[in-house]
Amino acid sequence: MLELFKSISLNKDSCTPLYIQLCDALKKMISEGLLPTDSRLPSIRRMAEQLDINQVTAVSAYKQLEKEGYAYSRPGSGTYVTNSLKTAEPAANVAILDEYYQSEELSVISNDQIRIHENTINFASATPASDLFPVENFKVVLNEVLERDKGNAFNYQDSHGYYPLMESISNVLLKDIIACEAADVQIISGAQQGIDVISKAFLSHGDYVLTESPTYTGAIAVFKSRGAQLADIQIGEDGPDLAVLEYKLKTCKPKLIYTIPSFQNPTGYSYSNRKRAELLKLAEKYNAIIIEDDYVSDFDFDKKGYLPLKSLDTGGRVIYIKSFSKIFMPGLRLGFMVISSELKHKTLEAKHTTDISTSGLIQRAFDLYIRKGFWNTHLEFMYSIYKERYLELTNSLDKHLPNCVKYTKPGGGLNIWIEMPYGFPVNSLLKKAAANDIVFAPGRVFYSGNSPQSINNIRLSFAAVFREQIEPGISKLCEIIKSLNSIRDSYVNIRIL
Ligand SMILES: Cc1ncc(COP(=O)(O)O)c(C=O)c1O
Repeated sequence: MLELFKSISLNKDSCTPLYIQLCDALKKMISEGLLPTDSRLPSIRRMAEQLDINQVTAVSAYKQLEKEGYAYSRPGSGTYVTNSLKTAEPAANVAILDEYYQSEELSVISNDQIRIHENTINFASATPASDLFPVENFKVVLNEVLERDKGNAFNYQDSHGYYPLMESISNVLLKDIIACEAADVQIISGAQQGIDVISKAFLSHGDYVLTESPTYTGAIAVFKSRGAQLADIQIGEDGPDLAVLEYKLKTCKPKLIYTIPSFQNPTGYSYSNRKRAELLKLAEKYNAIIIEDDYVSDFDFDKKGYLPLKSLDTGGRVIYIKSFSKIFMPGLRLGFMVISSELKHKTLEAKHTTDISTSGLIQRAFDLYIRKGFWNTHLEFMYSIYKERYLELTNSLDKHLPNCVKYTKPGGGLNIWIEMPYGFPVNSLLKKAAANDIVFAPGRVFYSGNSPQSINNIRLSFAAVFREQIEPGISKLCEIIKSLNSIRDSYVNIRIL
């Protein structure tokens, strides 16, 4: 074993302290599986002798390893390696993958070209960091449910959902938003499952689905996996162009229209109330079912008061899907749909064949969470945190963005869509920013195959970034943008000449 440590080479002339160099070398060995879980590291004295370093350096390196979760000490016995699988994948990595998983960006991340760690300023993830999760109150309701319902909490649940939760959703969560009965609510294991269940219920191979462009890539992946053909329509700041929308409906005859009408992902744009009403009329005329994906309408910072399509839906052709991932805890895998009686049998059947039901324990706990008033308090808390971040981000952009870069304030949601000048090297920006510990989502990952090649947008999200990181992060990002843009200018000038 000691032979292995001989291979560690430390550079005494480097400006990186020796103990950090040693800690990094050990971390690498642990991540690569060279040091198995629970194996004992050499004693301080042996390690110091082996590498010809001071014992204090070895102590500091071991302490740093422990601090980062790679090792633990047993008093009087020594320092041991922790579970390398646990440590090899920092939690933040998972957050970024929710929307990157199906693009080539994933390989960029996993090849370590872009690394997310503790100090990374993360404008890439639109999912809250776990420090915002209401763990304590959720513990209270979980314990109470276990005490109250005992083994029943672990029985198969009705595929439709746990009825008291369906009531809480219709009476509390949707109060003054959508008029519906508890029976119109279908519980799902997250919005992603909702999109899949609807596709399973209503799409046949080769059917068209009309989506916005750009859009949430997880939905595109579902439609493709069901063998659907995709048609898309460019989304503008107040929704799509209605004439183009009608043309696409007439020519493609889509079975489904997938839309995110409020604070769209990734653009942050919202349909005007007029366009919402027109979309409904057109869906009626061309006999399409609308999937309304509501993932963040709760964060309406400018009080725009957009009406959900479902609240205007007299014909029963809108299926409203609500995700809790951006407001609550994505790992709960909980969401719901509101669906008319004409459509609900097919979705219920599809839900049943998918996973029989969403976890009964989680449904019961969430129901109690709402009934105890924790939900409203948590929503207010998230609203205030996100609003603070939104204002900090827009103020910082106004202060630092060069004139050639454009964006529109969405007034809510979690994303800001930035448009770089024509020909801007977004890839270089991605890499240079990552080298400075700043990450964001390049716009191209939100387009399906049919879309233009030269996407020069980027998406900045503020769900997972701390307020204090925002202004320094934007200031640095803008510095990089300016330097890359001056190179682009000279390149464009040469081409013009
Ligand atoms: C627009 C949109 N819809 C749905 C989802 C998936 O949500 P859930 O975690 O509830 O499945 C996401 C996740 O990022 C999203 O951005």
